[in-house]
Amino acid sequence: MAFCTTTATACLSRCSASEETLLPSPAFRALKIPRVRPLFWPWEKVKMGSMVVSPMGFGTWAWGNQLLWGYQKSMDGDLQAVFNLAVENGINLFDTADSYGTGRLNGQSEKLLGKFIRDFPGREGVRDGVVIATKFAAYPWRLTPGQFVKACESSLERLQIEKLGIAQLHWSTANYAPLQELALWDGLVAMYEKGLVRAVGVSNYGPKQLVKIHNYLKTRGVPLCSAQVQFSLLSMGEKQMQIKDICDSLGIRLISYSPLGLGLLTGKYTASNLPRGPRALLFGQILPGLEPLLSSLREIAERRGKSIPQVAINWCICKGTIPIPGVKTVKQAEENLGALGWRLSSDEIFQLECAAQESPKKMVQNIFQTN
Ligand SMILES: NC(=O)c1ccc[n+]([C@@H]2O[C@H](COP(=O)([O-])OP(=O)(O)OC[C@H]3O[C@@H](n4cnc5c(N)ncnc54)[C@H](OP(=O)(O)O)[C@@H]3O)[C@@H](O)[C@H]2O)c1
Repeated sequence: MAFCTTTATACLSRCSASEETLLPSPAFRALKIPRVRPLFWPWEKVKMGSMVVSPMGFGTWAWGNQLLWGYQKSMDGDLQAVFNLAVENGINLFDTADSYGTGRLNGQSEKLLGKFIRDFPGREGVRDGVVIATKFAAYPWRLTPGQFVKACESSLERLQIEKLGIAQLHWSTANYAPLQELALWDGLVAMYEKGLVRAVGVSNYGPKQLVKIHNYLKTRGVPLCSAQVQFSLLSMGEKQMQIKDICDSLGIRLISYSPLGLGLLTGKYTASNLPRGPRALLFGQILPGLEPLLSSLREIAERRGKSIPQVAINWCICKGTIPIPGVKTVKQAEENLGALGWRLSSDEIFQLECAAQESPKKMVQNIFQTN
């Protein structure tokens, strides 16, 4: 992928030439961007099906979601800057979904991504390397492969692109509508055969269901490239580890969603400083037992001159997954980019996992997560 190599190389030369990173795109000349360190070497990029992606992507659930994430249209300029900053620094994987965006803003995350790609001020070659991974909701009215193909065409329209990077099933219906499941799988096959998508993936699939869909797609000549699950220091149960093992044995990439535990693993929330909205209730339950993990994260971060979110994201990378932290501001994006370019030691990983085990309450799992 010419895009990633040139970007990483450009970034490396910029950083070695000067303490200040002068980002080349016009949008950034006006902004004082703190030094972003060389992020990753070309050989650290990850093969994903026929594509090559950065070792970390960015998640865009918040882009259009008012209820949980407090999205406002006034944030759009900042979100474009987040996108530009990420892409200029070699991040080429963006996760979205056709259900992202609340109420009348449904589809807003895909629409914004489409706009940001189109308005990206950098080189066209760089823009062309962007891989959009979207997820298709298994709505009860999507009962045939044709309806799934239509959903894909609508996403392409919102994204204003001709071909998707990864088309992911957002969740499996195996637990409650097993007959729908096969139609969804055939929908993925149809999108792939029609050339609408470069690769297909799943999300919220448990170990058993993951093997089943992998085997089914194989018989249809469609490779399964990725499996997305909640994977973080607050979501590292037996199931996550089983899924990781299966992914490794079948050549599937594991994408870690909510790697910051919806913001809990940034260290910025406390019992007296809870986020607005529904997260407050969840955080209020988890935070009282989280101190051992937060102290370990803090201690390692201080020792290494990193920040708590950088350590939490780096742990996901060290476990061989591709984290997709959600980002709402340029400051968060800059900070999360600093999760790349270094690695926790095995002792540090052990220390973090021991501390995580001590937390009495973990993250709530997606209700659609299957076995
Ligand atoms: N497949 C699925 O079912 C599924 C489910 C969930 C998520 N996902 C995907 O995974 C992505 C990431 O997960 P997520 O957004 O749920 O949660 P996350 O990545 O664990 O947390 C993201 C949130 O943490 C806060 N944050 C991020 N970086 C920060 C920093 N450096 N400093 C301080 N605060 C920071 C921001 O919210 P605040 O500033 O408001 O705290 C941000 O929106 C999503 O965007 C989505 O693409 C997929």
